[in-house]
Formats: sequence, structure tokens, C-alpha cells
Amino acid sequence: MIGVFDSGFGGLTVLAALRQRLPQYNTLFLADSARAPYGARSFDVIHDFTLEAVEWLFNEGCTLVVLACNTASARALRTIQQQHLPAHRPDRRVLGVVRPSVEALAGLPPGTLPGVSAPSLVEGTVAVLGTEGTIASDSYGIELRKLAPRLELIQQACPLWAPLVEAGEIEGAGTDWFLHRYLDPVLAAPRPPQRILLGCTHYPLLLPGIRRIVPEGITLIPQGEVVAERLADWLLRHPDQERRLRRGGAQRLATTDDPAWFANHGARVFGAPLQVERARLTPVG
Ligand code: DGL
Repeated sequence: MIGVFDSGFGGLTVLAALRQRLPQYNTLFLADSARAPYGARSFDVIHDFTLEAVEWLFNEGCTLVVLACNTASARALRTIQQQHLPAHRPDRRVLGVVRPSVEALAGLPPGTLPGVSAPSLVEGTVAVLGTEGTIASDSYGIELRKLAPRLELIQQACPLWAPLVEAGEIEGAGTDWFLHRYLDPVLAAPRPPQRILLGCTHYPLLLPGIRRIVPEGITLIPQGEVVAERLADWLLRHPDQERRLRRGGAQRLATTDDPAWFANHGARVFGAPLQVERARLTPVG
């Protein structure tokens, strides 16, 4: 199975895009709703929670796990890839969303390698909106400087957007106030961005309000399609991993909190009724 992990139900936006692009594969989605949001948590805590989630997905039969959560991708992915997998799970893979999103933000083809000549010609300004943890990690800045060093990046933390979405407050005057609070400084920058990435799984749910504020000439990039497209490309380039995935299109969903609550909230995001099971994560190491 392909495992897809997010801190909360926002990750269903990535899962939906992934299942639409790659309907042939079986998927298992896990949301750590009991401990969401992750956005303002410390590096160590996000790492430990993410590792527990990844191990749960491995034990359930996933050979490949996508960290749909930007905060987890920014804070935990590198350590899991460089330390945990080689030592304990050499045959499994964990992928994040930062690298594919940066490629899309820079307008580069999937799998672009640092130092390839064309990217150095990419110029202009782009922006990423994310949680405090994602922005504080500078993960987007680090990746973009490798791939397209002449591209200017505006990074804006939007600490209250994910909690607003988790609370179901996706429309209304109060939500609009917070949309303006974080978008206005980006739009008022001396060199405003040509493209803005919604670098958090929850933000596509605020898209109608965001679109009303962002001028038409600026492209908004929701992450789901980008991640799905680039995962399809990754699988083509890694046939050994692709061959291990079970086919049939089956879907399982799990949450660390109340499955009924998750099914109810998640169905609105996913656009279809959901069957959800309870996952009990255990500390690793
Ligand atoms: N899923 C998280 C992300 O994409 C946002 C919500 C949270 O703070 O946990 O960054």
C-alpha cells in the first residue's frame, strides 16, 4: 500500500488528488488527529510523532509512505530518511511534499537535480504560506536555493489558518480577517510573487476566501495535484518500489482520535462518505 500521513484531516486534500491521479494503487491514510495541529510544536516532538505514524503505516503493510504534512516533511523527513530507514527499514521509502512543491513553485520538471543548468536561469519572486514550524525550518528556502538560486522567496507563516480549518471556520468575516492578516504582507511586498504555494494540507479548504483576496495575475498552487503528479513520476523512475505496491484501488482510513468525528469532518473535505478506523500509535525506540 501507499501510506499517506497527515497531522489532521487536511491531508485528505492530498489523498484525494493522489487517488485521482493513481487510482490503481491501494492506499492507507493516517491522521494523528489526537495530537493535531503539529504547526507550533518543537522539532523533537514533531519528529517523534511522525516516526510513530510512519512505523504504524509500515506495520500495516505500507512499503512507501508519503508525508502529506508539510510540518512533518519539514521537521522530520530528513532524519527519518537518513537515520531511521537505513538502520531499521532499508527496503522502505518515505517521501515528503517540500521537494516536489519547490519544483512546482520554480516551474521545474519533476526530479530536477541541483546544479542542472536550466534552473539557475529561473528568476522572479514566489511565495510559500505555511505553519510556523514549516516556515521556521526554512525547508522551502533551503530546497529552492539548491534548485533555483536566483528565484526570490517570500515565506509567510499563517499560524491560525490550520486551527480555523480544524474548527470548521472556513468562511465568514472572522476568517477573512485572518486571511488578510497573512496575505496582505505578501501582496504588499516590493516585488510581489508570481506564484503562491499553499504549503499546508489545510489551506486548500480556505481557497475560496484566498482567491477573493489574491489578484488574478498571481497563480495559486494547491499542493495535492503537485504531489500526486510528482509521485506518479517518482514511481516511473523507481520501478523496484512501484512493483511492490498492491493494486486494486482499495482504500483504508485511520485516525488516532474518534473515527466518527473524523468521518464526519473528513467527508466534507473528501466529498464522499468515509469509513474510518482507530489507530493506536506507540513510541519508537
Ligand atoms: N498538516 C499540517 C501541514 O501541512 C498543518 C496542520 C498542523 O499544524 O498540524 O503543515
